[in-house]
Amino acid sequence: MRILYVVGTRPNFVKTAPVIGALRARLPAGRHALVHTGQHYDRLMSDVFLEELGVPAPDYMLEVGSGSHAAQTARTMERLEPVLLEEKPDLVIVPGDVNSTLAAVLTAVKMDIPVAHIESGLRSFDMTMPEEVNRIVADRFAEQLFLHSEEAIGNLRAEGIPEARMHMVGNTMIDTLVALEERFRSAGTAARLGVEPGSYALVTLHRPALVDGPLLAETVARLAALAAEMPVVFPVHPRTRKMMESVGGEHPGLLLSEPLGYLDFLSLLADAGAVLTDSGGIQEETTYLGIPCFTLRDNTERPVTISQGTNTLLGLRPERIREIPDLIAEHRGDGRRVPEGWDGHAAERVADVLSL
Ligand code: UD1
Repeated sequence: MRILYVVGTRPNFVKTAPVIGALRARLPAGRHALVHTGQHYDRLMSDVFLEELGVPAPDYMLEVGSGSHAAQTARTMERLEPVLLEEKPDLVIVPGDVNSTLAAVLTAVKMDIPVAHIESGLRSFDMTMPEEVNRIVADRFAEQLFLHSEEAIGNLRAEGIPEARMHMVGNTMIDTLVALEERFRSAGTAARLGVEPGSYALVTLHRPALVDGPLLAETVARLAALAAEMPVVFPVHPRTRKMMESVGGEHPGLLLSEPLGYLDFLSLLADAGAVLTDSGGIQEETTYLGIPCFTLRDNTERPVTISQGTNTLLGLRPERIREIPDLIAEHRGDGRRVPEGWDGHAAERVADVLSL
């Protein structure tokens, strides 16, 4: 069996690392080739992550870099095609919903190569989100769909996708978290930054809807006001940093940093009093860790993090940041539970299906 894994962004690495590990163990005689598209390319967004996750060095680096959606997707397709011609894989495995995912699915399907999609069936029902388009295309064309929550079944059924293609395996991102737990629990990152565990808000923001327009300046001002009540730790995504620099202004009281490695980030997440984010993966990680999460978006493709987990949707409304101290006080753990299959063994279940 010849398998080609295609990854491009930080969360892709986290979701795919355990799948590569499980399939290598299950199919040791197979070919396992890793392609890094280069959608994320800064050392802090890419190399540091791959090292910490113990992912073997990629066999192919496509170095597509940044660009418009069309340019980034097209460049990836153009550079992936010769790799597929050379490798002749029996299966291409893609995670998540980023432009690299979209490009890999389209390239493979046009060459008649079967695709497996990890984290299938999530829907925000918001077509203005680039990721929503990517998810729909990936699920329409992938032959094997690996689901991490029950709601994905209904979403896929509603699009006419046959159940025979769906496999409920659980959450491979949580596999990585579980595997790193001992290490991040002893990392002591909060202390290194001079903040007390349990006392601070951890912030991440990177989505265009929030950071590419006028909401960014208001969000930063609201965060500065929150910092008067509790420390605010904010590792800044390169996209957000560029936008903050173009808006200018002071950021009094905010503990800003470069993007963090995954162990440092998970350590800060596990010790946070609250998390404010627009990320998808962080809604899941906080649910697993039982940390209150406030999401600055109008919708989420991960409603299980609200119904079962610790997530609250604030809407795309930065003025609601001022409610966070009260909302933390209201937050209760009762009735919260970790969704089924978010248990550290999802990648083994992927391997069960694929090594039959
Ligand atoms: C991408 C994904 C998003 C995912 C996020 C995770 C798409 C459409 N978006 O968003 O779903 O949640 O990754 O982080 O695929 N940049 C750098 N260095 C890097 C990477 C990016 O400076 O290593 C800057 C560039 O200015 C670039 C911008 O960030 O133009 C945006 O990068 P891009 O890959 O287009 O999307 P993300 O915002 O990272």
